Amino acid sequence: MSQHSQAGASDWQPAQPGEQRSPCPALNSLANGGHIPRSGIASRAQLVSAMVQRLGLATALADKLAKEAIEKFGKPGDGGEQVLHLQDLCQPGKLEHDASLTRQDAHVGDSAKIDPALVEQLLALSKNGQTLTLDDLATAHQIRMQQSAQGGHVVPPKAGLVGTVEAALLYCVLSRGEGISLADAREFLLSERIPQGLTGHDISLAQVARRAITVALKGNLPMCDAARRAKDALKK
Ligand code: HEM
Repeated sequence: MSQHSQAGASDWQPAQPGEQRSPCPALNSLANGGHIPRSGIASRAQLVSAMVQRLGLATALADKLAKEAIEKFGKPGDGGEQVLHLQDLCQPGKLEHDASLTRQDAHVGDSAKIDPALVEQLLALSKNGQTLTLDDLATAHQIRMQQSAQGGHVVPPKAGLVGTVEAALLYCVLSRGEGISLADAREFLLSERIPQGLTGHDISLAQVARRAITVALKGNLPMCDAARRAKDALKK
């Protein structure tokens, strides 16, 4: 089956008082859709199943992400098993990092909350006005790294590394062959809702890693168009 199952749009509901969310658009979308508990407290098995069924990740990749998250942040849940509290992911410097595409750095603002102006900055980088390509994401990542470094701020290299992996995950999950449509990007990043009928499936660690390397190289090598566009955008 090339399309993984999707819940109807009516199942989506933003976080209600007392429900936890994180700086991750994917985990928040899963909670908003009820694919993991809306409370924002989820077990490893719940995380894995939602990432496989709703985002199209291969089980091995989903399990690796969930296992690492639970190992780092897990707390005993009601049934005794370890659970992830989404709000724990907001702690700066653990997994949360500088130079996010859609959130401010912790040293200048709220690093857990979506900054709509940053989302618009990202969407405006679409070269063809319709989709975000991997090149566009490389430009976006490079711009955010430079913006974060402004004023002499030292951006930890880990922030750059994790940022390229997140951009790659975003691309693998949301692209439909020709890139990520701006409508899908807006829905996922601003409303934190999983777009209907995503086509990615069995997305592996190798696929994500290849794209992360592409994002890093294209954004940093001066002869690449993505790096040149970032440089030009920052001059304006
Ligand atoms: C258990 C699994 C996961 C955990 C624990 C996790 C955790 C996080 C955390 C802590 C951040 C914030 C980093 C920052 O400061 O920007 C983040 C960002 C992000 N995550 Fe996840 N994540 C998971 C799975 C996924 C998946 C499957 C996707 C696929 C689309 C994804 C996409 C993203 C993206 C695109 C960002 C960057 C947002 C931005 O730069 O503004 N994550 N994630």
